[in-house]
Parts: sequence; structure tokens; C-alpha cells
Amino acid sequence: AHRVLLDVDTGVDDALAVLFAVAHPEIELIGITCVAGNTSLENVVANTLTVLDIAGAPPIPVSAGAQRPLIAPPRASHVHGSDGLGDLGLPVSERVPDARHAVDLARDLLLASDRPVTIVALAPQTNLALLLRLHPEVAPRIERILFMGGSASGGNATAVAEFNVWHDPEAAAVVLDSGVPTFMYGLDVFNQVTIDEPAARLLLESSSASERLAGALLHFQMADPESDDAHDPSAFGGHIGDAGALCALVDPGALRVERHPVRVELGGESRGQTVVDRRRRVGEDTVHAGGASVAHPVDVALDVDVARFAGLFLETISRLP
Ligand code: BDR
Ligand code: CA
Repeated sequence: AHRVLLDVDTGVDDALAVLFAVAHPEIELIGITCVAGNTSLENVVANTLTVLDIAGAPPIPVSAGAQRPLIAPPRASHVHGSDGLGDLGLPVSERVPDARHAVDLARDLLLASDRPVTIVALAPQTNLALLLRLHPEVAPRIERILFMGGSASGGNATAVAEFNVWHDPEAAAVVLDSGVPTFMYGLDVFNQVTIDEPAARLLLESSSASERLAGALLHFQMADPESDDAHDPSAFGGHIGDAGALCALVDPGALRVERHPVRVELGGESRGQTVVDRRRRVGEDTVHAGGASVAHPVDVALDVDVARFAGLFLETISRLP
């Protein structure tokens, strides 16, 4: 099984990912760290605890981390509803968050583990950057960081930048330059994976509370058929979003992955863009830099078997109460 530490900003699609992580037999979820992003830190923690309740999860430490990006200004987002979870009126959990700061919880879990841990990051990477800067001794304990973020094509927060990287570009740069192996589950694949409307509707009628929650969240995530996202109305459905990054962990064979240097733009209009260098030949820039490569290689997911991930998602959450 993959031993996993999740970093989230729950968040409608983060909630789908938490359901998946709790349910999948090949995932051993050892902790969840929370960061401000989709919604306020307070909402993120409360939402995460509520989802764990509905999933019937065993006690898992959940802790609050960074309230704002390293350097960028804090920005409230309302894309996921005013509570960050689609305003579904879900009950407040009685679970108590871990008293440690997310960075301390992550350090403690990594140092206590007898084998390397995979960090799956579904949010702005502020907590991870702080962890790697404050406690560099944990780096060898991290098997890799699989992150939802970035894009090898266009953006969503801006024309060129994906939200998680755009929200805290300096943090993403710290993570990519850390030397820890990284895997990028970016918009190139993230935007593709949907559950079609009839299947999402069936979830709403399920006797399982977890499936009903997934159905409600997927309906919240349904692309407006008039929007840019919905070029093909027959493919109308709800995005599984961040849950796809966990599908990537357990079923990497459904992806086309290439290893390329990736750099984060920190200035100007393209701030937050992930520049994926897909050239096969040495370019003028490398020649003039004396052959020195500037960016670490990242495994970048570029294409996905959508039906396979959609099936994996539905099958996995069907295990929940
Ligand atoms: C990312 O931003 C958030 O809205 C989603 O939860 C996902 O992590 C997509 O750009
Ligand atoms: Ca997220």
C-alpha cells in the first residue's frame, strides 16, 4: 500500500479526493494537513473533518497550516461556495483537529514512519514549502510529492496559470527545486476526468451517505454547458478534480507521462505559470548557460484514459458506508 500524507484546501473536489483516499485499499492515509486556498483555513479544516465523518474514516490526524501564501496576498475564492464545500448544509463534525501546526504534524509523521511516505498535494503548496525549508531533514523520508497543480498548456486562474500554483507561486518553486521527486497532475489531465450526468444522478439516489455526498459534489462540479470547459455537450458531467491525483497514484498506467524540466514563473503577467520544457534538443538558452540545466525534472501527466479513471473513482467510493 502507498503510505500517504494528504495536503488539502477542501474544497469540493478535495472532498472527493478525501473520500477516495479513505476508501482505496492500496492507500494508507496517515494524516491530512490543511492550507488556505479554495476557502479559508477554518473552512478547510471543518470541511475535511466533516468529510471524514461521512466516509466513516478511522481517527486520522488533521491539522491546520498556513493561513495565507508565503509572499502573494491572501485571496478569498468563492468558486466552491461560501463554505468551500458547495453550501450543502452538511453537519459540523465533532472530530477535534490535531493541535500541532500542519508543518509540525507532517514532520512528526515523516520522521516516525519506518518507510518513505508519498505526499499528495491538492492545494497551494505553502505548507510543503515551509516544511522543506524548516525541516530539510525530512526530504529523504518523502518518496515523492504528487501534486495537483500547474499545466503544460493553458491556465484556469489566469490565461497561463493554474490556481494552486498561481495562489502561491513561490511555494511551488520551493517544492519543485527541493530535489524531492515530483509528479505533476496538472490541468492537462485534471480537466478531462468527469463522471457523466446519469452516473452522478445515480449516486444521489444511493443508500450510502458517502455516495450521496459524492453525487452532490459532482453536481456542484458540473461544467456549465455554455462554458469554455464544455466543448462537447455529450461529455457533460461532473469533474472529479483533485480525486484524479489519487487515481494517478494507484493507477499510473492510465496516464501518459513524460519527464521534463519544469520551472515556475514568478514575475509579471505570467506569474504562476508552470513552464514545462518539452524540447528534445538543447536550446539556445542551455547553450548560452554553458550547458547547465536550470530546472529539476518532473514527471508530467499529459494525457489520461478518462473512462478508466471515472470507473476507478466510482468503484472506489462504492466501498464506503
Ligand atoms: C485546483 O484548484 C482548486 O479549485 C481545486 O481544488 C484544485 O486543487 C484546480 O486548479
Ligand atoms: Ca484543491
